[in-house]
Amino acid sequence: MNISSALPTTETKGQFTFERLHLSEAELHPIRMDLYHSKGSGFHIFRQFVPPALVEHMRSVWPKAELPPGFQVLPASDAYYPGCPNYYVRYPDNSLIFFNFLHAPPLDETTQEVSVAVHMLRNRLSGRNAFQDLAGRHALSYRVTLNRNFEEWIAPHRDFMDWDRRWEKGQFDPSRLQATLFLSDSGTDYSGNGFFFQTNDGRDITLGKQVPIRSGDLLIWRYGNLHSVENVKCNDDQFGFMRIIFPVHDLVDKPPRPPSIRTRALARVKHLIGRGRSVLGGLKRRFA
Ligand SMILES: [Fe+2]
Repeated sequence: MNISSALPTTETKGQFTFERLHLSEAELHPIRMDLYHSKGSGFHIFRQFVPPALVEHMRSVWPKAELPPGFQVLPASDAYYPGCPNYYVRYPDNSLIFFNFLHAPPLDETTQEVSVAVHMLRNRLSGRNAFQDLAGRHALSYRVTLNRNFEEWIAPHRDFMDWDRRWEKGQFDPSRLQATLFLSDSGTDYSGNGFFFQTNDGRDITLGKQVPIRSGDLLIWRYGNLHSVENVKCNDDQFGFMRIIFPVHDLVDKPPRPPSIRTRALARVKHLIGRGRSVLGGLKRRFA
């Protein structure tokens, strides 16, 4: 027996026991039907998974952190290795991504605790051991993202559906689930579309439009269904579309070779041009 096994039920009313902390099969079953059955939607929303006070806390911590202690600017897309630092990317429109690994000290313990809970829930729903892929060679990196003005952040795609690479890193695995913890409200914090998802029976939905979703809600969804993040817009007074997703990365053995001087110089020039455009854009909006 392990943590993923069904436990024999006993009467534990009012007691603080292991069984009370365990996610029971009886509770998981109807949610799995939502997620996996051809007549199910392919997603499930845990309403107010995180209470408003914690949402407010996370919204206050992340966007103000310019380059938090222990973070480095993401040098390349394959820079994930055991012991790597947390990473950070800022875009010219002030969109942000923070990549967090459990082997690195957390910037915010609340975000980390919530993220581990979400990962364990997602693991159990997909029939995995609750602690699988928390750290090691195949590890969770919870990713705090704030979008401000992006036409096409992530184009429509399906993850883990590459049959030709089925023996390689488990690239074909329709059981995989992703989670999105919403920390913004459509209409108030941002306009445009945001998160698009195609249901198991082929219906196109946008969260925050056809399907209501609020900050604090947790969406668990099938990775293999078509999804995208598109057409996010916000003005200077709006907070943006903030959320946390929970990718599991294959970590490489050691840090990748540092980029050449030419590559670094080009990246620096690109960064400066981006900053310049961002400042000019801000001035234009202010005086328009
Ligand atoms: Fe994806």
